[in-house]
Amino acid sequence: MRGCFITLEGGDGAGKSSLIKYIVEYFEKESVNFIETREPGGISIAEQIRSVILDRKNTEMDGRTEALLYAAARRQHLVERVLPALESGKVVLCDRFVDSSLAYQGYARGLGIEEVFSINQFAIENCMPDLTIYLDIEPEAGLARINAAKEREINRLDLEELNFHHNVRKGYFQLLKMFPERIVKVDASRSLEHVFEEVKTILEQRVL
Ligand code: TYD
Repeated sequence: MRGCFITLEGGDGAGKSSLIKYIVEYFEKESVNFIETREPGGISIAEQIRSVILDRKNTEMDGRTEALLYAAARRQHLVERVLPALESGKVVLCDRFVDSSLAYQGYARGLGIEEVFSINQFAIENCMPDLTIYLDIEPEAGLARINAAKEREINRLDLEELNFHHNVRKGYFQLLKMFPERIVKVDASRSLEHVFEEVKTILEQRVL
């Protein structure tokens, strides 16, 4: 029996990493047979691809090249890590997956959601998540959280970034319309405890 593929998505400061810790604790308590992962997930080839994407020296990187590299790293992580776990019946909890490329490269960078989806379909061969939890937060609120944690003020670069993150959010809104069954939007502006309570209910209904 194939396991269940769950992905988490959201903008910066939405609290994805903290939420994942809560979900992991909950799965352990419920004795769920699961793995927790994120791209590139320690997969050597995917790590090498990722370092090309993130290398600050690669200023000439074209947007489509970036999207293809994300898709390539995704493919390798999927084949080496995600598919074997799913095939052995495990629940896979993955921090970001194809929707990140659709929202960031497809929508916010302007490459087109459909275009980026088509290269990703080649990479994932229809292995879409069974459930995607999208943590939604106003970019201003997300940034304020990050800055409060770092104890610093919002600066000019942050403000430039803000516009990009508004576009990322609009991208996710498009995806919610495209995949209404799969993606569940959760209001992440509330306390982590509230967010987790809602997520727990979703997991009880859809996974456990
Ligand atoms: P990361 O350090 O993993 O942070 P986060 O905690 O936000 O997940 O950085 C991931 C960044 O890479 C994030 O800004 C989103 C971006 N990204 C894409 O643009 N496309 C993708 O396909 C993926 C997986 C991530």
